[in-house]
Amino acid sequence: MTKTHKPNSAAMLKRAHQNMPLGVADSYRYWGEDNTVFLSSMKGCTITDCDDQTFIDFRLAYGPIILGYRDERVDNAVINAITNIGSISGFSTGLDSDVVELVKSLCPNIEKMRFANSGTEAVIGAVRTARGYTKRNKIVVVEGGFHGLHDEVMWKSDVDNWEVSDTNSPEIIPFGAGIPQSTREHQVSVPLNDFAAIDAVFAQHGDDIAAILIEPIMGNCGSIASTQAYMQKLRDISDSNGSLLIMDEVKTGFRVAKGGVQALYNIHADLTTYAKAMGNGYPVAAFGGRADVMSAISFDKNGVTHGGTYTANMVALSAAKATLTLLKETDALATIDRVGKEIQALLSRVFTKFDIEHCFAGPNAMFGVHFGASVPQNYRDWKKTNSDLYTEFALNLIDKGVMLEPDSREPWFICEAHQTIDFTWLEQVAEQAMAEALKIK
Ligand SMILES: Cc1ncc(COP(=O)(O)O)c(C=O)c1O
Repeated sequence: MTKTHKPNSAAMLKRAHQNMPLGVADSYRYWGEDNTVFLSSMKGCTITDCDDQTFIDFRLAYGPIILGYRDERVDNAVINAITNIGSISGFSTGLDSDVVELVKSLCPNIEKMRFANSGTEAVIGAVRTARGYTKRNKIVVVEGGFHGLHDEVMWKSDVDNWEVSDTNSPEIIPFGAGIPQSTREHQVSVPLNDFAAIDAVFAQHGDDIAAILIEPIMGNCGSIASTQAYMQKLRDISDSNGSLLIMDEVKTGFRVAKGGVQALYNIHADLTTYAKAMGNGYPVAAFGGRADVMSAISFDKNGVTHGGTYTANMVALSAAKATLTLLKETDALATIDRVGKEIQALLSRVFTKFDIEHCFAGPNAMFGVHFGASVPQNYRDWKKTNSDLYTEFALNLIDKGVMLEPDSREPWFICEAHQTIDFTWLEQVAEQAMAEALKIK
């Protein structure tokens, strides 16, 4: 991918291979022997690699950075908490309620909440609570949605190996080895925005459906979004069937609007998961929703169990309190919206110049770029877009100092610090990157 040789990164990967599978701490960070990125620092909207190349970063750690890297307003709050209060104790502090009350003030869908350490853990908590409350088993998920790395949601529609001309649905396969077939038993998958499919699933399994679990804007599938009518359909069918609606806002929460995706649709979930933007990069997550549903968590023998040693630790909660206060009281999200819009406009000028059919999916704070005539309505539609051209374009951008995921299923993430970037420069490098992708001299 990178045309420049990166001696320091190569040496670091060689060393890391002795210590970790693939030489990385998370398999998705392995980008091949020549392209695996090792960083020396991050600041604002930039990251600098170990070979001293600085990038404008639109990947933002897959979304958590909402204000900017090393935002002093958040970092100082964390330093203050760990210096003056402590890290963890296995007991409660007032910070717990401070953060819950902040979330409640932003998100009317939250009446009660519990904390977690990652998006994965938040989803596990929400799903278990939904099952405990409804006394049912099945979870309906949407093709292309991602809900973390726990066995039960590590089944995916194999759209990569599916042909658009195929009249059969894509095969559902596990993410890899080690996922027991039994974890598939209670999961049913539907394509997004397909009314007939959701009706059929409820007709067949309704009695045992505990919840629909959905990212209304699929942050792991090019920001392809539910229509307003489809979200209403999910709300209505859940209500009439006694099932719950869980919105996974791990990527959209506190990013696409102060009240998350639910403020955009004005449709509320029974349970919601949050993480990422909630702590500007510090590891904090949560799930919450209707008080009666959350009250299923109890010591009663029929109650739902939830907890964890590191849950609601001081680092996480002090970061969340500072980040959420800033998002609530400043116009950071409005700035992000404006910057995201401006970036899409400049990209659109570049694509138009090269006569490339293109469209953008999702909100300005995390938009997907798709080379195709119309915005994909679901994961199968994504297969009709020219994702290979996108990957070429993205790899060329990376080479020129613009970091993004070279896969159009990952959106462009915007943070407040992006307001300082040179848009003219970005348009120029985007033009060069596309010219090279199309092999135009
Ligand atoms: C929508 C959604 N849910 C859950 C997760 C899992 O979060 P984590 O990686 O913090 O476990 C992710 C991660 O990207 C996500 O995007």
